[in-house]
Order: sequence, then structure tokens, then C-alpha cells
Amino acid sequence: MAQSRQRSRHGLVGRHIVAEQAVPIDAATVKTSAGAVAPVAASRAVQPGGGKGQGFFDRMFKDLSPLEVDDADLEALANAMRDASPGDPALDNPNVPAGFTYLGQFIDHDISLDLSPLSASIEDPTMIRNFRTPGLDLDCVYGAGPGPHRFLFRQDAPKFLIGQATPSPDAQGVQIPALPNDLERTRHGVALIGDHRNDENLLVAQTHLAFLKFHDKVVDHLQAAGTPGPQLFDEASKLVRWHYQWMVLHDFVERITEVGIVAKLLTEGRKFYRFKTVPFMPVEFAGAAYRLGHSMVREEYSHNRVFRPVSPRLADASLTRLFQFSSLSGDITGELGGMAALPSNWVIDWRRFYDFHTPAGTPNFEFNPSRRLDPFLTPTLHQLPGFPPTREGNLAFRNLRRGVNLGLPSGQDVASAMAKEIPLTPLTPAEIATGPDGVVAAQKGFDTAAPLWYYILKEAQVRGQGERLGPVGGRIVAEVFVGMVQGDKDSFLSQPGWTPTLPAKVPGTFFMTDLLQFVGDISPIDGITTVSTL
Ligand code: HEM
Repeated sequence: MAQSRQRSRHGLVGRHIVAEQAVPIDAATVKTSAGAVAPVAASRAVQPGGGKGQGFFDRMFKDLSPLEVDDADLEALANAMRDASPGDPALDNPNVPAGFTYLGQFIDHDISLDLSPLSASIEDPTMIRNFRTPGLDLDCVYGAGPGPHRFLFRQDAPKFLIGQATPSPDAQGVQIPALPNDLERTRHGVALIGDHRNDENLLVAQTHLAFLKFHDKVVDHLQAAGTPGPQLFDEASKLVRWHYQWMVLHDFVERITEVGIVAKLLTEGRKFYRFKTVPFMPVEFAGAAYRLGHSMVREEYSHNRVFRPVSPRLADASLTRLFQFSSLSGDITGELGGMAALPSNWVIDWRRFYDFHTPAGTPNFEFNPSRRLDPFLTPTLHQLPGFPPTREGNLAFRNLRRGVNLGLPSGQDVASAMAKEIPLTPLTPAEIATGPDGVVAAQKGFDTAAPLWYYILKEAQVRGQGERLGPVGGRIVAEVFVGMVQGDKDSFLSQPGWTPTLPAKVPGTFFMTDLLQFVGDISPIDGITTVSTL
């Protein structure tokens, strides 16, 4: 049993995780408000939202008490959350292709950035600055726009700068030419993008690149339709945001929660994520529910015909390598001695990451599902690369500890509070106690009061068969996403009845596969721009 539920104040100080927040953690002060670095999208008006405003965190469940757990118990649970069979296909999620993992990470970087130290207990989340706007406004892509952040844009067109991947051989030694498929970079390899975290691993970097190209294609599309030059950037960025918002709600959120929930929430209203005028970033979401994506990450991918699990290949596409082919975590360091840019043989084949209905038997082809939504993290993510095997390098521990720091209530308390408003059955102690993680959870008393992040993953495993979130996790995620779009006065919901207008398999809808098809860059190393199988 957990003997103590005291808040620990052990000092895990030093640098922040290299991969995500590469700044020294002392650079951000929890208590800072007025003096903090402005969010990137400084040009978009910041108005009061939650307790302190749109730029801050706040609570959804203000009346619930924090769950206090000491570090030793958190560490025991964190250690039990390591996937012991990362290659077992039974733990793949047939409902969610692996591209959505990194789309999910990309979306996270659009809406949330907490730079507070892991060592700090936060009594009042409204004192924590969110360095992103809590809205699907793509501030991680556009920054503050072509005025203030002109280093992101071309001088001759309202388009983004795109980098060149350098020539490199395939598995047969045939040279793949330079391709316009890397992020634009400085001489030291640093990506010139709106959020440094989007060059943390190659898959999120290629996702970011797809969004840059999406904007550029929309510019071409509008230009061809006669939109005057001076209006091109504003019109294109609006169309991009609206299609992205529609796609996130209907393709991503409904896929991991419940089909139809978006329309239901829009009709019936939100019950738990409430704000007066503009949204805030809820700690229950950023500190727990939306960290669900950590469980979706695979240990190895089939990246393209060159880097795949089986021969013929040059090498595998392990998670470690996918970190390596980035500048934030890896070896793209330019003049400093590493690679100047991405080698062209590492440009992604999107057919392996999203379901384009590629025919069975396509040579040298494998499809990547994400891993099931369950309490397990693949070893390379569980113990983050570049860190000694300490608590600080253990992502499960970091997430659990972050939840305690933020004063999150237990999953059971959240479930009971929600059950007063909607039909919902909280997890029983017996359900939590299942599996190797459950044994540890029960030993530590988490079967009756579990950290919220763990509860939500366990609920997904037990109630959603690992294919989608359960009722607590699903409702929090869906309400927050719908609320963020509703709270953005410039979102697609500001135009009643609007549906996507860009070309799509089903006109009036827009899924991630439609976006990639519109970009026309499906598998550049194979010369495949679009596919007929969609
Ligand atoms: C290889 C992939 C990923 C890596 C290496 C990674 C790593 C990290 C790290 C190191 C943190 C900071 C932990 C802390 O100190 O609190 C973090 C935060 C977070 N991650 Fe991930 N992550 C990955 C994928 C994802 C995905 C797929 C999602 C969601 C779909 C996600 C959602 C989040 C959220 C919501 C936070 C808190 C963000 C904030 O408020 O600043 N991550 N991640």
C-alpha cells in the first residue's frame, strides 16, 4: 500500500528532456506571468479565458482534491509501465494507423507547451504559463506570421521555406536525388520552424513538413481560382486552419474516442470543460489525458522501401534512428560536424503510415499500425534516449510526477465526478489490478486512487480494448478539442454550416489521407505523388 500521499519536493533539476524541451529548465519560471516569453502566436489576441487567461493552465475539476503520491510509489508504477513485448503484433492497434501518433504529437505542439521545472510542485495551475495558444490555430506552423517570423517564409511568395534532403543511395546502391523534403535549416542544422519540438523525431518533422506543403498547395489552389495576391496569405492560412480543425475533430479525435461524439457535444453542449469566453489549457488534459499518445509509439517502423523491418533494406527504422535523423535529438548539426540535412533516402512513404488501401502483396511494403492504448510505453520511449537510467529519463515517471506536481485528482475521483453528470461506470479495483502493471498498482493503493494518466490508459485497455479511449479519457479529450475550436472565434464553427471545400474522397469531408493526397507528395523516393487506391 502507498504509505504516504505527501507531495514530494525532491529536486530533479538540470536540463529539461533533450527531445522535447531543450531549453535549460531554469529558463522558465513557474511564477512568471508578465515577464514570461510571449507565446509564438503573439499576434493573435490573448483574452481572458480560464482563471488567468488564454495563455495559462487551469483546472476542469476544480472541486476535487489533488492525489498526493511519493516518488518511490510513482517510480514503482512507472517501472511497471514498460512494454515487455514491443514486437508483439497482438498489441498493435488496428483502429489507429501509426501516422496518427505523430499527428497527435504535432497537434500537442500546436496547443500546449509547459516549460515549468519537473521538480516544482504547483499549487495553482493558473500560474503556469502555456507557451502555446490553446486552440487549433497552427501557431506551431505559422508562428506570428510572415511579418514578425519572416525567417519561416519565402520572400517571393506567401509560402514557406522548404529544405532540401541531400542525395543518398537506396538499398541497391541506386542514388536517390536531392528532394525538397526536409525542413529548412540553419548552417548548424537547426530547423527553421514555429516550434522546435517538431524536429524532435523524424516522424513529427515529416508531419510538420506535410503541413508546410499543405499551406503552399492551398496558396496555388487559391491563386488558380483568382484570389488576388495581397489576400493570398490570409485566405490560404484560414482555409488551411479550417480544414485542419475539421480533420482533427472528425478523423483524429473521433478515431481515438467515439465516432459521432463531436456532433453530440456540439448539439448537447460540454459539461466538464467550461470557460467564460476563451479557452484555457486544462491540466487534466495536458498533464494526463492527452499524454495518451506516449502509449501509441512503436519501437520500429517501416519507414519507406529503404528503411524497413526486413530485407532488402539499408537498415531498420527503429525509434532510436528516427530520433537520430532530426536536429533536436539527433545528428543533423551541419557545420558542427553532423549531417547538413536529411538524407533523401529517409524521406517518408506516407502509404505506410495512413490507410491509403495499398493493395496486399505490394512489393517491399508493410503498413504501420500504432501500438494499443494501454499502460505500456515502448522501451526507447520509456527510457528516453540520451539520458542516464534515472527517474528523470523515464517518461512514465515524468508523466506521473508531472501529474502530482500539477495537483491532479485521482482517476477514480474524476470518474465519480463525471458519473454524476453522464452515464459512466468507474473502473473497479479488480479491473485496475489486472496485468503486471495492475499488480503493482494494487500494491501501491492505485486500484482505489490512481494517477489520472495511468487511470486513463488502464481504462482504454480495459474498456476500449486498447483500440480507443474509455469513457473518462474519451470525454476529457473530446470536450477539450471541441471546446478549443468553439472558443476560437476565427474557427470553422464561426461560419455556421461550413464543411470542407478542398478536394476529398468524400466531398464535404476532409481526412488526413485527403490532406496528403492534396499535397501530392505521397512517396517522393518512389516518384509517387498521389494514389488511386484511396
Ligand atoms: C516519440 C514521440 C514522443 C516523445 C519523445 C515525447 C516526449 C515527451 C516529453 C519528454 C514530454 C515532457 C514530459 C514532462 O517532463 O512532463 C512530453 C510531454 C507531452 N507529450 Fe509527448 N512525446 C512523444 C509523443 C507524444 C504524443 C504522440 C502525444 C499525444 C498524442 C504526446 C503528448 C504530450 C503532452 C500532452 C505533453 C505535455 C505537453 C505540455 O504541456 O508541454 N506526446 N512528451
